[in-house]
Amino acid sequence: MSILKLLAMKKEEQPISMVTCYDAWSAKILAKSSVDCVLVGDSVSMVVHGFDSTLSATVDMMSNHVAAVTRGLGASTEKVLVGDMPFMSFRKGKKEAMRAAEQIMRAGAHAVKLEGVWGHEKIISHLVGSGIPVQGHIGLTPQSIHALGGYKVQGRHEDQREDLIKQAEQLEELGCFSVVLECVPKELSRLISSSLNIPTIGIGAGPYCDGQVLVMQDMLGLNGEFKPKFLKTYLEGGQKYLEAFNDFDKEVKAHHFPSDKESYQ
Ligand code: KIV
Repeated sequence: MSILKLLAMKKEEQPISMVTCYDAWSAKILAKSSVDCVLVGDSVSMVVHGFDSTLSATVDMMSNHVAAVTRGLGASTEKVLVGDMPFMSFRKGKKEAMRAAEQIMRAGAHAVKLEGVWGHEKIISHLVGSGIPVQGHIGLTPQSIHALGGYKVQGRHEDQREDLIKQAEQLEELGCFSVVLECVPKELSRLISSSLNIPTIGIGAGPYCDGQVLVMQDMLGLNGEFKPKFLKTYLEGGQKYLEAFNDFDKEVKAHHFPSDKESYQ
């Protein structure tokens, strides 16, 4: 699988699947799945590190998690592995952005994703021109959460709608291989998806995107009470983990674990 395959999938109207992943053990499971793409998202800062926004992600944090996922997927992985460029890493000039992208790519990513477009068009072009595939990310861009005033659906108003369409077109023009649309009304993502030649990958953006992405812990029911409207949970993972911990605790206290089976003679 390569970014060229993703472009072909769009042409052939084959939906693309993407799941976030932050560590080697879950990457090993994902490697055996039919999921097309893996995203080491900056959501790692919230989901794994417990911060209250993605603003706490750093280039070192991202590249460490990309390296772990790369090891878990295996060198000959069929999956496209995308690493997020964290907050501010592409807003402090070309040199700094290139250093950040280099660290993330050297850790094993096949592409980088960055949020927004206005004001960093030249950096996107330079990354693309340097042979680094870039995935755009528009709509609800969590790195701008304080400017957006919260985690809200984007593109409900005419001016926002127009701007999102322009951003998507600009990303394609700059050479991005794909665009993530986050929390956008489904008719707007239908319009954007049908007007672009590159695939759109939606999260909370309805069924008309060319692909869908979910955060692994959200889809596995491992992220507590976080249950936005767009989320479908494919496993009651939190409940299953809890039952397993309690079973272990009970067996230890009842002297049932370890039994002879788990003991060296
Ligand atoms: O960081 C992340 O997990 C993301 C997805 C929500 C697309 O950017």
